[in-house]
Amino acid sequence: MIETLDAAATETAIPALARILHACVHGGASVGFILPFAEADAAAWWRGAVLPGVVAGERVLLAARDGERIIGTAQLVPAGMPNQTHRADVSKVLVHPDARRRGVARALMQRLEAVALERGRLLLVLDTVENSPAQPLYAGLGYHLAGVIPQYARAALHPALEPTAVMWKALTAG
Ligand SMILES: CC(C)(COP(=O)(O)OP(=O)(O)OC[C@H]1O[C@@H](n2cnc3c(N)ncnc32)[C@H](O)[C@@H]1OP(=O)(O)O)[C@@H](O)C(=O)NCCC(=O)NCCS
Repeated sequence: MIETLDAAATETAIPALARILHACVHGGASVGFILPFAEADAAAWWRGAVLPGVVAGERVLLAARDGERIIGTAQLVPAGMPNQTHRADVSKVLVHPDARRRGVARALMQRLEAVALERGRLLLVLDTVENSPAQPLYAGLGYHLAGVIPQYARAALHPALEPTAVMWKALTAG
């Protein structure tokens, strides 16, 4: 089940979201953080960097549940500049390692696209480590590869700089 978290639900969900982010980073996901990365660091990021945007209505936070438990999450961040009111970024698509390959990320992305369409955000942009598990996920959903930027970010678990693949998708209603 996919749901949109409002401010109160986000606040309640922070421990679960922190567990997912912590597990993803420790599994080697390149999502902005490097080791050492404690669960408290993850919780601080959700509280400091995500919650304010949800409160302000500036970002959409989705959660995927298995029963009561949150097992995945994704965000839509509408572009803020006046000349890009048709565009949004897809951010922090995260599925707990023990809930993978069950279609959770695909379901999150499909809901994110439905939300984007409702808001008139018809161009979605994202980036992911080149050849990461996420790249076939996005490609399978129709995202095009704009290009690859070498040495874009440090890997989570070691000092190497990794390339990122920039991808985009134009949404159409119906
Ligand atoms: C990438 C990630 C979000 C995928 O989540 P998931 O719920 O396991 O993905 P799904 O089950 O919805 O997979 C949908 C499709 O994506 C592709 N895919 C997903 N994981 C894959 C993997 N490990 N290897 C290859 N393809 C993969 C497949 O095409 C899959 O379809 P299939 O299972 O029918 O073959 C998850 O592995 C994750 O959280 N990774 C760490 C965080 C991260 O890197 N996020 C992306 C940031 S840009």
